[in-house]
Formats: sequence, C-alpha cells, structure tokens
Amino acid sequence: AKNVGILAIDIYFPPACVQQEALETHDGASKGKYTIGLGQDCMSFCTEVEDVISMSLTVVTSLLEKYGIDAKQIGRLEVGSETVIDKSKSIKTFLMQIFEKCGNTDIEGVDSTNACYGGTAALFNCVNWVESNSWDGRYGLVVCTDSAVYAEGPARPTGGAAAIAMLVGPDAPISFESKYRGSHMSHVYDFYKPNLASEYPVVDGKLSQTCYLMALDSCYKSYCHKYEKFEGKQFSLSDAAYFVFHSPYNKLVQKSFARLYFNDFLRNASSVDENAKEKLGPFANLSGDESYQSRDLEKASQQVAKPLYDEKVQPTTLIPKQVGNMYTASLYAAFASLIHNKHSTLVNAGKRVILFSYGSGLTSTIFSLQLRDIQHPFSLSNIARVMDVDGKLKSRHEFPPEKFVETLKVMEHRYGAKEFVTSKDSSLLSPGTFYLTEVDSMYRRFYSEK
Ligand code: ACO
Repeated sequence: AKNVGILAIDIYFPPACVQQEALETHDGASKGKYTIGLGQDCMSFCTEVEDVISMSLTVVTSLLEKYGIDAKQIGRLEVGSETVIDKSKSIKTFLMQIFEKCGNTDIEGVDSTNACYGGTAALFNCVNWVESNSWDGRYGLVVCTDSAVYAEGPARPTGGAAAIAMLVGPDAPISFESKYRGSHMSHVYDFYKPNLASEYPVVDGKLSQTCYLMALDSCYKSYCHKYEKFEGKQFSLSDAAYFVFHSPYNKLVQKSFARLYFNDFLRNASSVDENAKEKLGPFANLSGDESYQSRDLEKASQQVAKPLYDEKVQPTTLIPKQVGNMYTASLYAAFASLIHNKHSTLVNAGKRVILFSYGSGLTSTIFSLQLRDIQHPFSLSNIARVMDVDGKLKSRHEFPPEKFVETLKVMEHRYGAKEFVTSKDSSLLSPGTFYLTEVDSMYRRFYSEK
C-alpha cells in the first residue's frame, strides 16, 4: 500500500467546561497564572454520565456515519488510553458492540497504554499493519480517549477530556513519512498512576517538564539524523510547515518550539538568522543540564522563535487551549486544530508537518506527515467540516468552579465502584452522544445513546 496514513478524523469532547480565569480566582491563584502562566483558556471535563468508554462509543459511531464508512470495512481497531476502568477488559472490546451489530467480529487490535503516548502507539500499529504483509485491504481505526483529572493543587488546571477517532488506510490526505521517526524511551518517575484505587496520578511537575524537553531534544536529534541520512542535507525548522506538540498546557508548547530553535542554532542549521545567533550565542556552551535550568536561555529562545512560533505552531493550539490536556488525544487534537484552521491552504501538495508525542514514564517519538489533496470524502476540507470544531466549542456549557470541584468529588467515589445508577441526565449532550446509565453488582457497565 502507498501513502498510508490518516483518511478521516472526528473529535468529541464533553460539553461541560470551566473557564481557567474563574478557576484561578476560585483556587486563590495569582491572576494570570493559569491563563498566561500556563497559557490555558478553558477546560472540558466528564460529568458523572460520561467516561472514556462513552466518549469513544460516541466518536467511533459519529466517524463511521459522517464519512459513510460501513462497519464491515474495519479490519483493525486500536485504542490508546491511560484512563484505566478495567485492568483486563480492553476499551476496544466495548467498542465491538458497534461492529458486532453488523456481523463484523474479525477485527484485530487491543488497547495500548503508556501515559499520553498510547494513542501514538495505536496509530503506529495501524499504519504498520496497512504497510505490512498481514494487511487484508480493510481500514484501520484508531481511538484516543482520556479523561485527565488531577487531585487538588497546582496540576488540577492542567486537566481535560476528549476522544478522537482516526481512520487509517492507503492514499491518505495525511500520509506518514515512516522512514523518519526519532524515538526516545527511558525509565523515570515523572508522572505515574501507582494507586489503583484512584484515578489521580502521582506527579512531579518540575521533573515532568524537564523530562519532556529532554525527550524532545533526543527525538529531534534522531529525527534529523535519519532525515539527513536519506535526504543528504541538514534538516531545520524551515523544512516543515507546521509543528504539532503533545500539549499538557500551552506554555510548555511555546517552550518546546523555542527548544527546537535552540537545537537548530547549536547544530548550525541554515534557518537561524544573524540576530538569533547573537541572542543565543551566550548560551552555546551550557551543558545539557544547565540549559534546562537556564531561565535566561528560555526567555531568549522564546523571544527569537516567536515569529516562527506564530506561523508554524499557533494554528495548532486552539483545541488544547480550549479543552485542556486530553492525554492520548492531546497531540491529535492539536493536529485537528491545524486542519480546522488551515484546511484550505494545506492542500498544496507536499506540506510537511512534524509531530512530537510524549508519554510520561517515559516514551516519546517525533514523526512526520505529508499533506496531500485527496477527493471527497477524505479531503482536508471535508475533515474540517465533519469535525465542526467551532460548533462543538460554542455549544459547550460553562460550569462555575464550585460545580466542577463538586463533580470531581462525585467521580472520586464512583471510580472503581459498583452498584450505582447515574442521574441519566443527558440534557447537555447532543443527539448521538453515548452516556453511562448504570454499573451493576458485577461491575458491568451500561450505556445509552441520546
Ligand atoms: N501571571 C502570569 N504568569 C504566572 C503567574 C501570573 N500571575 N503566576 C505564575 N505564572 C507563571 C510562572 O512563571 C510559570 O511560567 P514559566 O514556567 O514560564 O516561568 C507558570 O506560570 C506556571 O507557574 P509555576 O509556579 O511553575 O506552576 P506550578 O509549579 O504551580 O504548576 C505545573 C505548574 C508543574 C505544570 C503543574 O500544573 C503540573 O504539575 N501539571 C501536571 C504535569 C504536566 O502536565 N507535565 C507536563 C508533561 S507530562 C504530561 O503530559 C502529563
């Protein structure tokens, strides 16, 4: 198969949201800490009728319907998630309800888990399958679904929730450059979920920021090395039209792009101009460790990278700023923002997009995509139309912070619990949305469709 990649995308996020500005006041944080300091505008969250299974049922049903895909045409289904509801039964098996209905049980794939990286692992599995000898000619389907919630404290404003579905096959408008992948994997305790009785992670915020940036540097070096081996020339930021990052919060994305700029400066890549060379010169001899700690370097590199950030990164930031960290879905929601904002100009064949996926613990990869002009229904403009990002953002319902905190308290009790019925209140949900109605005495979960 040729030009294997993503043919279609749909996204779902819960309609319940809380404004970061209101949360700042409520938490007694200094004004601007969440909005300017973290760079976040708003945060979506699941109420007691939604979870990662209901969101994934909603987004898969919606994708199949809106692109006119017969459920029999799916040959592989992979889920990425770090929100554990069952330690054995995969989320994929819940989604089989959709496919069993039309007699299709011949579908490979299960769930992949490692923090925010599971979606990328799932996507690579599907792309590799279509590119392999075991491909049977049908589509792959990838689902990233997560509810990111944190205990009270500084990490709480970096939550979020969403599910994304991506159809994978040949002749795609978004095709993989599979030769150029750079990964970095290692053993660290930056963010993990050792307490199986709680949905909340244990997180060392500062360490996780440094790990993220170190992983980015390492992946970029490997990516550039592979690119240079194949292309016979240096890679620099000017070789890609857009850069998409896993987005725990927007400030880290700003710092990440600046870090890539600093990498280009150190490698003496052609894209760095004279002014930047002068501004970054004083930092050229810092050791790796020193460079992660230097506030002056952070400031200087963000400043010189700003015009390129506005051009190559800003169009990817809409959904992550509005919805929050969606864990496995975060990177792909950033990519969906790019399609939403730029679909009409992206079709000029051969536009390259670089993506950085990061999952704490840690696993990370930089990979790249080529955007191509493809006919309906898999055109970029149709993908933008189907996703209806503006419509979905506008129809959300703002909760006051008190109500958000109260909801999280209810969810703490419900996590891992059995024998309860939910309020079954679907008034905020749009038609076609799945919601949780009951968990019985055997922990079996029941959902309805609005
Ligand atoms: N106005 C403007 N900016 C402000 C204000 C204010 N009033 N107050 C603080 N700031 C800035 C700070 O200077 C800082 O920005 P800087 O890094 O550019 O200096 C930023 O706001 C955050 O303030 P901190 O004091 O650093 O925040 P804190 O340590 O309380 O929490 C953190 C931030 C660590 C990111 C926390 O939210 C967290 O632990 N989140 C979860 C972990 C995470 O997402 N890690 C990322 C990778 S791993 C993953 O994806 C899960």
